[in-house]
Amino acid sequence: MAEKVAIFDTTLRDGEQSPGISLDVNEKLEIAEQLARLGVDCIEAGFPVASIGDFEAVQAIARNIHGPVIVGLSRTHLADVDRCWQALADADRARIHVFISTSPSHLEHMLKMTFEQVIEETKAAVSRAKEYTQDVEFSPQDATRTPVDFLLEVLQKAVDSGATTLNIPDTVGYGMPWEFGELIATVRREVSGNYQISTHCHDDLGLAVANSLSGVKAGARQVEVCVNGLGERAGNASLEEVVMALKTRVDEFGDLYTDVATEELARTSRLVSRLTGYPIQYNKAVVGRNAFLHESGIHQHGVLADRATYEIIDAPSVGREGRQIVLGKHSGRHAFSDTLSKMGYSISGDLLNSAFTRFKELADRKVEITEADLEAIVAEELGASIDPGYNLDYLEVTGGTDKAPTARVIVSRDGVKQEATASGDGMIDAACQAIREATGVDATLTGFNVSSVTGGIDALGDVVIQLSSGDQKVSGRGLSTDVVEASARAYLNAVNRIVRLRSRQEEPRQPVTGP
Ligand code: KIV
Ligand code: ZN
Repeated sequence: MAEKVAIFDTTLRDGEQSPGISLDVNEKLEIAEQLARLGVDCIEAGFPVASIGDFEAVQAIARNIHGPVIVGLSRTHLADVDRCWQALADADRARIHVFISTSPSHLEHMLKMTFEQVIEETKAAVSRAKEYTQDVEFSPQDATRTPVDFLLEVLQKAVDSGATTLNIPDTVGYGMPWEFGELIATVRREVSGNYQISTHCHDDLGLAVANSLSGVKAGARQVEVCVNGLGERAGNASLEEVVMALKTRVDEFGDLYTDVATEELARTSRLVSRLTGYPIQYNKAVVGRNAFLHESGIHQHGVLADRATYEIIDAPSVGREGRQIVLGKHSGRHAFSDTLSKMGYSISGDLLNSAFTRFKELADRKVEITEADLEAIVAEELGASIDPGYNLDYLEVTGGTDKAPTARVIVSRDGVKQEATASGDGMIDAACQAIREATGVDATLTGFNVSSVTGGIDALGDVVIQLSSGDQKVSGRGLSTDVVEASARAYLNAVNRIVRLRSRQEEPRQPVTGP
């Protein structure tokens, strides 16, 4: 009989713990909406006790996203469980995910607890969660470095206290696929009760996907994953890779299936990359730019004769058809909005106007406009409309081999214009200095990455910038066919985040690792 493997997405929780990622509520909602469209079963929306921002994001997702189960993470402190439920209470379907470390190393150096105390904490926290919802998940953190006897004992207590999902985290990415599969089989055999087994694998040795699949082979029916393999350190198992492995190798996995609409994978990946500021590795499986490119003549010849000679995945099945949009500089607003709605965006009013203006500007500079170009423009305008901040009204940069670069900018916020002129080491530096003068926001540039949305000399340049200001670290993104302008937009986008964070005066996040 066909059996489903549930996809538990933790991009907004474990993924957001990746260094330098800081998503605000609106960005998290946008990602959650796309995850629902993608068809994941569970969205781990955050760790409500970590900060007010986390709490509000989990609450907003619980209230607005329908379809997937909305999950909140909680330590075993009873107050954490209560807080987690407060955030989740309005969800159509909610799950509390309780975790505690179980390995000797974590017990000795972090929790300062005995095995007995861990068992007591587990029982109390799972029972408390069960008072709120029937759907309770339990994770013994660092399970793969935990003595198996103790692991089985904690897991059994968790089930006896009401846990319905037992998640087995390879927290430090230490497991080998065959060992991890064996561990899942052992849990399945030794722990009695009515529960499903889940995997949660980190990628420190590049084995997160392999370990997850091995877990599925051994009986796990939920896999915890992140879009683009985001997550602590080297990341978590990548959602798109796990899903496509299960789909492509039906011969290996038999009647197992997921409910993921795989044609949405590419778009989900791009959205997450854009909002987190984490670029996608060129040769990343499934969603990387090169995943469907064939360089050598022999390969090209083979693929032209029959795609299956060198491709095991059909590009359109993961949303990678690179469709050319038949829109040009003479296209009207109606055709533009019609195309967007076919792509799944229903925008109107001021947002449609500003996106249309950007489209026209682009059409003047770029011959071929792809779906990815339009998507990038809409995402940028959407971000600006949700949180207007400073707008880049004017940018002029001069310079050359024998002339010091100078930039003049005009930015506006709430109708007030600020103008500044500055020079810099290069044109991009001059533009950023001028924005710094105009906005009065002092920040240090800690990262800069430029890539192009599509190929070609007239491609849209996509710039991601990381800024740090005091203890705030933010990223910003900007698009333009001109790389200096894209950089200025990215810089201003990051400045707007700093301004927003300051106005919210967010409390610092608590560490996720404690009991
Ligand atoms: O990696 C891990 O152990 C975790 C747990 C909180 C599930 O992320
Ligand atoms: Zn993790």
